[in-house]
Amino acid sequence: MAQQVHVRLDDKVYERLSRLSAISKKPIQECMRDAIIYYISRELPQEKPSKPRFKFIDLFAGIGGMRIAFEANRGSCVFSSEWDKYCQQTYFANFDELPAGDITAIEASSIPDHDILAAGFPCQPFSIAGVSKKNSLGRETGFLDMTQGTLFFDVARIIKEKRPKAFLLENVKNIRSHDKGNTWRVIMATLEELDYEVFSEVLDGQNYVPQHRERVLVIGFDRKRYGKEIPFAFPAKKPRIKPKISDILDPSADDRFTLSDRLWQYLQDYAEKHQSRGNGFGFGLVDLNGIARTLSARYYKDGSEILIPQEGSNPRRLTPRECARLQGFRDDFEIPVSDTQAYKQFGNSVVVPLITDVAKSITKTLEFLDGQYREDFNELLLALMDELCCPEKLDVTKLVREAKASLARKRESETQLND
Ligand SMILES: C[S@@+](CC[C@H](N)C(=O)[O-])C[C@H]1O[C@@H](n2cnc3c(N)ncnc32)[C@H](O)[C@@H]1O
Repeated sequence: MAQQVHVRLDDKVYERLSRLSAISKKPIQECMRDAIIYYISRELPQEKPSKPRFKFIDLFAGIGGMRIAFEANRGSCVFSSEWDKYCQQTYFANFDELPAGDITAIEASSIPDHDILAAGFPCQPFSIAGVSKKNSLGRETGFLDMTQGTLFFDVARIIKEKRPKAFLLENVKNIRSHDKGNTWRVIMATLEELDYEVFSEVLDGQNYVPQHRERVLVIGFDRKRYGKEIPFAFPAKKPRIKPKISDILDPSADDRFTLSDRLWQYLQDYAEKHQSRGNGFGFGLVDLNGIARTLSARYYKDGSEILIPQEGSNPRRLTPRECARLQGFRDDFEIPVSDTQAYKQFGNSVVVPLITDVAKSITKTLEFLDGQYREDFNELLLALMDELCCPEKLDVTKLVREAKASLARKRESETQLND
């Protein structure tokens, strides 16, 4: 529930606020709210996880589903970006941090260094026309250029500038067939061009939550740093005791979630009409011992994809808290926005425990690679010292330089062997 606070402002502050409102084209109230959130997020002591193992950034952050997953693996979030003001409210309520806004307006060089980049970017087609135009102007175009004007371009330019050790990209399963497969091909070619070793797989949330939700996950590791031999594996799809929808239901959901007679009748008629024409549309009345269909960001409209049967009355839709549980959010996750906004936010989010497992696999792989990297380095350093074993002439700087050069040669020959 939103609270109102009345404040008196000096003329000068008011004048500046009015100017900000004019420049940003946002109402004064909104500028005021943002200013307060910005101030509080800087002033409040941040509770960072004890001894973070790695730093990560949270792009297209939504309400922070990815952030929870990486923090659960003892990561420290050093930057987030999300431009939707309602998502920002939820993010702030849960992480005491106001994400930066439009990612397209953020210089990659201004983003703090990090080990892992996480992004669930919206899926958009790439314009081939733009590429041929540039070619005709005689400019060299790589795949990165081909992605300009899309949000994936922003992910790629940040990877290029910051070179994180690894990244995790999340998207809808259909991105692989989007625009006749072109979108997927360009994404893969761009990541290849950026010199990352890439792994991708479609994973289903139903091993973690009572929801069928397939998403494609793309993980990359910096080849310039680690070479091509990356021992990464997606979490095994082990048969767990599958959760069922009744596990997440509130025994006493408010009546406002029950469908009106009119809407319920409309959904039944609509389904019947489509079935008689041989189309697949139908509302998703769930089996309480089974799982739900995929929760979408449109759930707020009529809720038809997941309906809960009720004895003696029309079915009801899920409450926002039940949607949160359906995505694996804990009950202490705060929902400070309206039902409509909450439905959109959870529908756009991720299955948190699934991403937590994937984040675990990424961080374990990085730990191994970094350990291996150090071992290789120490081994070479010792070998060099043996060779140059002549204490009176020992020049440590030179030794380190030579060890680095030797390591680079070793990696190069490994890469060639792998090619
Ligand atoms: C699929 S959702 C990601 C949800 C997120 N993974 C989560 O767990 O909540 C994509 C998000 O990207 C945000 N977005 C889209 N364009 C943006 C932009 N130009 N700058 C910042 N955020 C943007 C949308 O508002 C939306 O919340």
